[in-house]
Amino acid sequence: MCHNLAGLGVFEKDEEGNAVKRIFYVNEKLFKASYHGRVACTGCHQDVKDIPHTDVKKVDCSSSCHMTDPSDNSEFTHKRMAQDLKNSVHGKKGGEHDEDLPECKDCHNNKPYQITVKQSLQTMNFLKVCLECHQSEEWAERFYEHTFYRASIRRSSKDIVALCSRCHADQEMMQKHDLDVVMGFEDTFHGKAIQYGDEDVANCLNCHAPYAMDYSPHRIGSEETPGSAVHPDNKLATCQQSGCHADATEKFASQGKVHPSSYTFSKASTASNDEREFQQWVIYLITLVYKILIAVIVGFFVLHRILDLLAARREKKRLGEV
Ligand code: HEC
Ligand code: HEC
Ligand code: HEC
Ligand code: HEC
Ligand code: HEC
Repeated sequence: MCHNLAGLGVFEKDEEGNAVKRIFYVNEKLFKASYHGRVACTGCHQDVKDIPHTDVKKVDCSSSCHMTDPSDNSEFTHKRMAQDLKNSVHGKKGGEHDEDLPECKDCHNNKPYQITVKQSLQTMNFLKVCLECHQSEEWAERFYEHTFYRASIRRSSKDIVALCSRCHADQEMMQKHDLDVVMGFEDTFHGKAIQYGDEDVANCLNCHAPYAMDYSPHRIGSEETPGSAVHPDNKLATCQQSGCHADATEKFASQGKVHPSSYTFSKASTASNDEREFQQWVIYLITLVYKILIAVIVGFFVLHRILDLLAARREKKRLGEV
């Protein structure tokens, strides 16, 4: 009744003293069509007991939301994902920069999935098959969409790359964690193909947490985590999964670094900031020399071509043809 009012919100001051608006409006139609459209508001906002309410706490995604899992009537919860995340590289709390670690809401929003699913499933409408047996269209539609949505790939490879790159291409953040910056992914073979819309090549998750090998985005490990998909013992299997590089050899899987530009800020290199600056300066210089070389060579050819054309014209004129 209240949150239905478009524009509902308050003005507050942020840390710098600027006025910012916090929006309390919830679009009912979009909310109902979202992942969580069937969860009651108080299923997540559990401390809201009275109306009006103040000081509502942040939502804890690992609490149970008063829904039942129809497969065994247990209380439904995302505890398993929270536990997995806590044990993964993204859950290593206690460091100096814990605020950089991704939490549920960094990677997930409450997308209105049923709307998108409806569009993409229109071409293969098996709902009609369900309706041959099941009487209620609304009921059948809900299960049909749920099943198909969950069984298909949701984020495109481009979206996954953008999601992970938000932090992993952030030089400053990665240096704080002593990690290589994943720069230039778009220049790799996989990255290029993804930019052209190819969904069959590997995105970050296909190598770091492939569902096909029983990993999940919440169970990402590092190179050093035994059992992780990028641990040296498992790299071959990761390349070979899903028929990708089915005939890959041990040599193929172990040669070189997968992420090409790690030379700039390598964790392995103990280079000091001065040395890094020097390395970058050398790279800059080589790039500059190449650029000048290319400009001079191409420029020379263009000039040569123009002079050649002029000469041909002059010759024709001399012979009285023009
Ligand atoms: C699946 C869980 C979930 C459900 C269901 C849900 N919310 Fe939320 N809501 C959140 C999360 C997460 C946030 C982000 C703030 C936070 O972390 O607590 C949020 C934020 C909000 C905010 C903004 C609060 C602020 O401080 O800016 C309002 C208002 C709100 N929800 C109202 C509602 C209403 C009304 C409903 C029911 C129609 C609802 N929510 C259902 C999870 C949920
Ligand atoms: C590093 C990013 C990241 C974080 C952090 C994260 N997730 Fe996910 N999660 C994903 C991705 C990617 C998927 C795959 C589905 C997709 O493509 O949208 C996924 C899938 C899911 C699914 C669907 C089941 C599945 O495996 O496909 C649920 C439920 C889920 N996440 C809940 C959570 C909860 C709860 C948290 C916090 C405890 C969390 N996630 C934290 C990235 C993340
Ligand atoms: C040939 C007839 C038939 C078709 C076609 C069919 N169903 Fe069913 N479905 C049934 C029967 C009968 C049951 C109940 C028996 C059972 O639980 O095994 C059932 C059970 C279900 C249930 C479990 C309900 C519960 O609460 O236990 C779901 C969900 C479901 N069907 C969804 C679908 C969807 C979605 C489609 C279309 C992709 C579909 N069905 C197509 C006959 C059919
Ligand atoms: C909100 C920022 C953020 C997002 C989004 C994020 N990460 Fe991370 N990731 C981190 C931080 C911070 C660390 C370092 C944790 C530590 O201090 O050990 C890390 C660590 C890692 C590591 C371990 C590196 C090592 O060798 O220790 C891998 C692999 C990784 N992330 C992959 C991914 C993938 C794949 C995605 C996309 C699904 C992703 N990350 C999304 C912030 C993020
Ligand atoms: C083709 C497979 C593949 C793809 C695609 C891939 N990675 Fe990796 N990644 C690896 C492997 C394997 C390693 C371990 C180091 C090595 O062997 O080169 C690694 C290492 C890492 C590390 C650790 C760096 C460190 O300091 O040790 C991070 C962080 C990371 N990847 C993030 C990402 C992100 C983000 C993406 C997507 C933009 C991505 N990866 C795409 C295979 C891949």
